[in-house]
Amino acid sequence: MAADLERIEAGLRRAVEADEPFLTEVARHLIDAGGKRIRPALAITASLVANPQPGSATDDVISGGVAVELVHQGSLYHDDVMDGADTRRTVESVNARWGNLEAILAGDYLLARASQIAASLGTEVAGLLASTIASLCEGQIREMRHAFDVDRTREAYLTSISGKTAALLATAARVGAIVADHPRPLIEAVADFGHHYGMAFQVIDDILDVVATDEQLGKPAGNDLVEGVYTLPVILAMEGPSGDELRNLLGGPIDDATRDKARMIVRSDPAIAAATGTAMEFTDRARASLVDLPDTPAVSTLRSTCDLLLARVADLNG
Ligand code: IPE
Ligand code: IPE
Ligand code: MG
Ligand code: MG
Repeated sequence: MAADLERIEAGLRRAVEADEPFLTEVARHLIDAGGKRIRPALAITASLVANPQPGSATDDVISGGVAVELVHQGSLYHDDVMDGADTRRTVESVNARWGNLEAILAGDYLLARASQIAASLGTEVAGLLASTIASLCEGQIREMRHAFDVDRTREAYLTSISGKTAALLATAARVGAIVADHPRPLIEAVADFGHHYGMAFQVIDDILDVVATDEQLGKPAGNDLVEGVYTLPVILAMEGPSGDELRNLLGGPIDDATRDKARMIVRSDPAIAAATGTAMEFTDRARASLVDLPDTPAVSTLRSTCDLLLARVADLNG
């Protein structure tokens, strides 16, 4: 896997080379800053699920992994403009460093390069990537429409994160499996894994936004509350005994002191444990997607990925 991820890094850098050096520089900014590379890792692992021995990914699978990571990064460029976030992956965000217009254009450029690579992998992958980008937009718009809505429901939340996050993780797994020529039931199984893992992934990210620090995250913590994005832990806390107090604080723009107060309330509320429970339900469903798959090293990697995800919250408490 380490060698394959090196190939992903090389592929990412190649993909964003532009004739205009400034565009290359802006487009490389987040690639150079790091990131977990979960989506390409998922594409690679999904391509290897039928291998009885640990293996290495094909060049086409690497290209698929590069394409999904570029879509992810393009969406982060745009997300940081929308959230007014000044840090990402521990460095200055693109919008903070160069400006919103630059971030929007470079984000478009990353999406365009992703589409170009996807087209080289066939019409199914190209269509899939295009429809996934549409899902990201739908999920993100659904979130915006509920900004500052203290009555946002769990259902509305889940529908939004299915589009903005789980769709791309499902696609990452599906692309790996399609390009590896796996039989259809196997493709569906890993895509189902990716979807449920993706749901858990966003729930955990949303818990971390409440309970972690800027340093632990490498991006601004507590920003969801400031942006009026009331995520699962907050929605659950608003349904509980601290609900009235929270509602009085939230529902509109807030200063830093109010943000910290609201975070403190949610952090010490059973809502954190309840939201973690929801993440576990999703990782259980992700694991259940794998039951008919052979017992290979890649399948066991997928299972342990679920444990690693849940450990992100547990690790904070030391
Ligand atoms: C951040 O994704 C956006 C979400 C879907 C929560 P990651 O947590 O995968 O970000 P990087 O790629 O590691 O920076
Ligand atoms: C994920 O949501 C956004 C995308 C899917 C692009 P967040 O807004 O929670 O992502 P972070 O926390 O800024 O990484
Ligand atoms: Mg954000
Ligand atoms: Mg977040």
